[in-house]
Amino acid sequence: MSAVDLAIRGANVLDGSGEPAFEADVGIADGRIARVGSVGDARREIDAEGLTLAPGFVDTHTHDDGALLRHPGMEFKLAQGVTSVVIGNCGFSAAPNRSAGDAAPGSSGLFPGLSVDWTDLAGYFATVASARPAVNAVALVGHNTMRALALGDASRAPTGAELAQMRGWLEAALEQGACGFSTGLIYRPGRYSTTEEVIAIAAPLRERGGIYATHMRDEADGLLDAVEETLRIGREVGCAVQISHHKAAGPRNWGRVRDSLARIDRANAEGADVTLDVYPYTAGSGPLAEYVSIDHIAPAFAKVVAIASCPAFPEYEGRRVPEIAETLGVAPEEVVRRILTAPRGELTICIHFIIDEADIETNLRHPRMMIGSDGIPDLRGKPHPRLFGTFPRVLAEYVRARGILTLEEAVRRMTSLACERFGLAQRGRVAEGYWADLVLFDPAAIRDTASYEDPKREPVGIALVVVNGQVACRDGRHTRVGSGRPLRYRVDARTGALDR
Ligand code: ZN
Ligand code: CU
Repeated sequence: MSAVDLAIRGANVLDGSGEPAFEADVGIADGRIARVGSVGDARREIDAEGLTLAPGFVDTHTHDDGALLRHPGMEFKLAQGVTSVVIGNCGFSAAPNRSAGDAAPGSSGLFPGLSVDWTDLAGYFATVASARPAVNAVALVGHNTMRALALGDASRAPTGAELAQMRGWLEAALEQGACGFSTGLIYRPGRYSTTEEVIAIAAPLRERGGIYATHMRDEADGLLDAVEETLRIGREVGCAVQISHHKAAGPRNWGRVRDSLARIDRANAEGADVTLDVYPYTAGSGPLAEYVSIDHIAPAFAKVVAIASCPAFPEYEGRRVPEIAETLGVAPEEVVRRILTAPRGELTICIHFIIDEADIETNLRHPRMMIGSDGIPDLRGKPHPRLFGTFPRVLAEYVRARGILTLEEAVRRMTSLACERFGLAQRGRVAEGYWADLVLFDPAAIRDTASYEDPKREPVGIALVVVNGQVACRDGRHTRVGSGRPLRYRVDARTGALDR
């Protein structure tokens, strides 16, 4: 037998299935796992004694569409052991576009600095491939993006022709390998759409497969109604559903994730196919302008907001609004108003503390719950720490410290379950023939270090990250090998279509 490219020796292998670990050598050749068991000669050796080897983690909810081009090293994900990301969430995607040269339409400031020179997903994928990103990516197509292209920010219903245009864009993107369709019905312009509009656009999912992923219309008082709407969309379209960043926002709704999960369990028992994701933090984050209307800024909201990035007032970054208000001698809602009415104020990304810690535990206990960071990769300012810390935080805090779920189960959700759901073919398992996306870590030491005060810090306890068979990160050092690639939904990569 000829020598493999890389041998990882004596690891405790958690293969992603949820089964207990076993000790083995893993041999890698030509980007794939060639051998699990005992491995002979290798051109490169890594001693993994005492460490756990798992499939690379899949970040099921990201806004990395622009980051793959602007920060192809993707250090904030790679250092967490993340080897693949799902992009195009919350209704915002980098494709389609009307013409090359447009700024990303309807992106609500989520893709800062992204300049667009493609019109469709295939063009975007080609651009990403030539940027040689550190991680793989699968892509959803965003409703807000398409609606902004078709109708601008009009609050009316689309005409028949506009509806057909949006459906056609989705159809074409699915043909080119999109893994599904996303909505952000809380955001503009998605919030102007009816349930029927969403169902009509999503129709191609039934034939072509692919998932309907949704930031629901309401995550607060109207949570359960929003869940009903989501279930109806899945039922009438006839497709799988992913509920994004499942939460019950605001103190008076805390605890209601239990009702929501019970309703989802019942739907699944009756033939629906719903899965979810969550991030392990009590604060959300997003474009400030989307959470308040300028004529009515709720004092209760202003009190729980911090500023992540703010081109208008960089000096506010990393600070809580009540604290800024105190130094200025004004009410917190006045600070929010000043930010939003300043030039480029609409580009402000905020952090809002609206989630109950007990609800995070309830979410993580659910067997259909995956992990999605929802990180916003704007590296200026002080981004929400979930961008750098999500996966190690789940393993350190919710697995090791609190025992909310076992390590085997956490790894299953981060790997094989996510790969099945989002159509990452031949990934998510440590098994012969699978692509060698791998993470080697110390389960007793892995830990996030990013905080709200100091969020751009990489985790500790991860010894090695391998992407498509190449060593991408070793003991915290990024190799810049750039071995990630865009992946088409359920396309068996053995065909070589995306191989370089
Ligand atoms: Zn969202
Ligand atoms: Cu999101």
